[in-house]
Amino acid sequence: MATETNPQVGKPQVVVQLNLMVALSADLRSQVKQAHWNVVGENFIAIHKLLDELAATLLLQVDTYAERIRALQAVPRGTAREAAKNSPLKEFPLTELDEAEAIRAVLERYEQYSGALTEAIDTCDKSEDMTTQDVFIEAQRDVDLQAYFLRSHLGKSARTARPASKPAARPASKPARAASKPAVRPAKK
Ligand SMILES: [Fe+2]
Repeated sequence: MATETNPQVGKPQVVVQLNLMVALSADLRSQVKQAHWNVVGENFIAIHKLLDELAATLLLQVDTYAERIRALQAVPRGTAREAAKNSPLKEFPLTELDEAEAIRAVLERYEQYSGALTEAIDTCDKSEDMTTQDVFIEAQRDVDLQAYFLRSHLGKSARTARPASKPAARPASKPARAASKPAVRPAKK
């Protein structure tokens, strides 16, 4: 059956993006666990628990991406070796980390993850695969929420510029997902 006519056969570029997210989220989960074990400081328990919640969400995301690949009749590359080979993230520090250091290192990777998801969302747009796009949009909503939780631990000085990989605006041909309502004034009575 031709890929073009069967929405249940994944387009190669969409499957590539899904496999990239399998690798990235599995790698990030292992890095968040590394932070969970090695963070030190007076807020240890709160941060230790937050990082475990993040790791649990990442594990669900790995599973969602991998099962979406199967639904598209392709094969996920889900082993730790594949994750290490294909993830764009740099390695996490293999030392004890003070709270702010640990949170900054994890936050930096969440921002990179969100930027990669924006690219995956745009790929789905070009490939007209709205169902996979929905998977990526939902994941990005979680990733951005968790980045906010992390950032809030760092205080006001932690507000970061948007990552370079994340476009400032969507292409003009595509309406923004969260388009504001038109400024129409209610008719006077
Ligand atoms: Fe634990």
